[in-house]
Amino acid sequence: MSTHPILVIGGTGITGRRVAARLADRGLPVATASRSGDRRFDWTDDTTWDAALDGVRGAYVVSLDGTVGLTAALVERAEARGLERVVLLSARGIDIPGHYGDDSMAAAGHLDAERAVRASGLEWTILRPGWFIQNFTEGIFRDELTETGELRIPAGDGATPYIDAGDIADVAVAALTGDGHAGRTYELSGPRPLTVAEALAEVSAATGRPARYTPVSPEEYIDGLVAAGVDPVTAKIYDEGLHPVRTGGEARVSDGVERALGRPPRDFAAAVRADLEAARG
Ligand SMILES: NC(=O)c1ccc[n+]([C@@H]2O[C@H](COP(=O)([O-])OP(=O)(O)OC[C@H]3O[C@@H](n4cnc5c(N)ncnc54)[C@H](OP(=O)(O)O)[C@@H]3O)[C@@H](O)[C@H]2O)c1
Repeated sequence: MSTHPILVIGGTGITGRRVAARLADRGLPVATASRSGDRRFDWTDDTTWDAALDGVRGAYVVSLDGTVGLTAALVERAEARGLERVVLLSARGIDIPGHYGDDSMAAAGHLDAERAVRASGLEWTILRPGWFIQNFTEGIFRDELTETGELRIPAGDGATPYIDAGDIADVAVAALTGDGHAGRTYELSGPRPLTVAEALAEVSAATGRPARYTPVSPEEYIDGLVAAGVDPVTAKIYDEGLHPVRTGGEARVSDGVERALGRPPRDFAAAVRADLEAARG
């Protein structure tokens, strides 16, 4: 077995943590890279990159949202230092003009990163997931929900088939360790679209805590985030993510989990319950 570690860039995040854990469970050498990872890595400080990439032949890459050029530079550097295989986390719908609204910084960043891995000499696989189930339990919505029992976001009545981050990690690990995934782009979703109100009802049923949805305008949402200390660029990127939900563009189901793994994606309620059980230990 190779002694070269697989590097999980963004390995402390929602998907990266799961990718790293699955690789370690298989007994594979793995290192996480981020500002607080096993290997200190900062996207905004390229003097940290070489040490993070040392000895690495395979990598899972979570880019820094809203940046153009950084992932391309990292991929070029990594390839020069011996990287052979990369799995890139992108996002569903970035190939559809206007999907994330006009002049989306997030879409521009993901498209640029995708172009870079496709143009490289690496074995590459691109994952394009939709909204994660875990946004409600670990990610951007968790704190507001825990503190207030309410989620005030500009998602209208739109529905989306939320995807389990565990499924994303399973596809990433298959692509990092198995054959038949090179040159593939997997669009990943869960099995059924849910409105935010429906999703929150399932979260509430699983956690036993209130979780009410109040739709707000994009302007109110962005102003609220900025007032709470979120920088304006990040606030705009969060709102861009919700644009396709409120405009109805996120409702379709994608078959990437089935194509990559030969099994259906996990359902919303099952994933929330599994995460809660795992957290209890
Ligand atoms: N959330 C969703 O529903 C969703 C859906 C589709 C696509 N995506 C895409 O998934 C990606 C991750 O989004 P997420 O919200 O779920 O975040 P996340 O992966 O849970 O967290 C972000 C990761 O990036 C690391 N990071 C942040 N700033 C960094 C920096 N300057 N240098 C190095 N590492 C840094 C963080 O670790 P440290 O804090 O330790 O540095 C963390 O590991 C984004 O590209 C997003 O567009 C998300």
